[in-house]
Amino acid sequence: MPEGSAGSTSPPGPRSREPEVRAYAPGRVNLIGEHTDYNDGLALSIALQLGTTVSFRPDPAAESVVVSSDLAPGRAGVPIDTAPDDDAAHGTRVTGWASYVAGCVWALREHGVRAPGGRMAIRSDVPVGAGLSSSAALECAVLHALAAAAEATVDRRTLALIAQRAENRYVGAPTGLLDQLSSLYGADGTALLLDFRSLQVTPVPVTLGGAVLLVIDSRSPHRNADGEYRRRRAACEDAARRLSAPSLRYVRDDGWRALRGDELRRRARHVLTENRRVRDAAQALRDGDCTRFGELMNQSHHSMRADFEITTPGIDRIAETARDLGAFGARMTGGGFGGSVVALAPAEAAMRIESTLPGLVADAGDPRPTVIRVRPGAGAG
Ligand code: ADP
Ligand code: GAL
Repeated sequence: MPEGSAGSTSPPGPRSREPEVRAYAPGRVNLIGEHTDYNDGLALSIALQLGTTVSFRPDPAAESVVVSSDLAPGRAGVPIDTAPDDDAAHGTRVTGWASYVAGCVWALREHGVRAPGGRMAIRSDVPVGAGLSSSAALECAVLHALAAAAEATVDRRTLALIAQRAENRYVGAPTGLLDQLSSLYGADGTALLLDFRSLQVTPVPVTLGGAVLLVIDSRSPHRNADGEYRRRRAACEDAARRLSAPSLRYVRDDGWRALRGDELRRRARHVLTENRRVRDAAQALRDGDCTRFGELMNQSHHSMRADFEITTPGIDRIAETARDLGAFGARMTGGGFGGSVVALAPAEAAMRIESTLPGLVADAGDPRPTVIRVRPGAGAG
């Protein structure tokens, strides 16, 4: 393997005396507010009690981070001077899952913090590709560990922006800030009202009076997710441009009416109505009004299906089945085209969903989903 490429770098020497650094970052489930983040909009999210732990043993003499993950075979070498414009064809740019680590090393360096080399071990219980942000959990845990090893203090907002830069520029996914802010600002028992224009994070206490939050992982692959995500983002930017606004956040709630073309109008309408639903859902949560919260979840799902067109028939069936079994509401969560459904249900209905929904979905010929109960968990650290 050529010098400098993933896997080619020599491991740090066994004599490294640096103390081990440990960092943790959770996955997240977005309760409402989908595809709003890159439109300077709003979302209401919680950090999960599932997360990614990074153990890092720095070695000041090493020129690379040798990284392993319990979710991937073997080790990868990430040169600490790696950059996104290194030549992927000649193996000098890190590719594959380790590109998330490489992106963090690079973006942190761009911020002026040079991480030392060393040995890094990653463990995670966030399901990968389920729309629960395993990738942001990885980035945020890695960044916390690298910053601590470099003895640098970086605030959470800046860490989120660095993680996003790593993902956008190094990994090549044009995502917003929802996942990183949720992971970094998570707090026990608290949802986060995220404003992506001001980057303000407002805690909203979660008191459900016995109701239960469920995540139903469809276990169906996100086919075409990358290209479709990009297309949705481009459509939103196009809509804002046509309305002479810096982003859809600056457009009035019914501003989509001024657009020409049915598809573009529906894309913009999703984002504009979704921001309104997030505001209303935060209020419903403060009021402890599960019925209202559930209605807004259902409306959000409908908007994602009919206007933004990011759900799949399988995901629609799961959300509908959860409602039929008595949930207050159910909606797809995350980027779309597969992934998970989040549902809010009274305790009895939650038990029904856990015991019968997977079988009902499997009988209809779809992969058998897994259902887990979730509560807002602590953020990264
Ligand atoms: P998700 O919805 O889970 O964030 P993504 O497709 O955005 O889905 O990110 C999943 C990718 O992140 C994986 O394919 C892998 O490359 C990387 N990843 C996430 N967690 C880990 C981990 N613990 N170890 C190795 N790679 C990981
Ligand atoms: C995720 C993406 C987030 C957000 C979300 C949709 O996959 O990482 O930034 O855009 O989709 O709300």
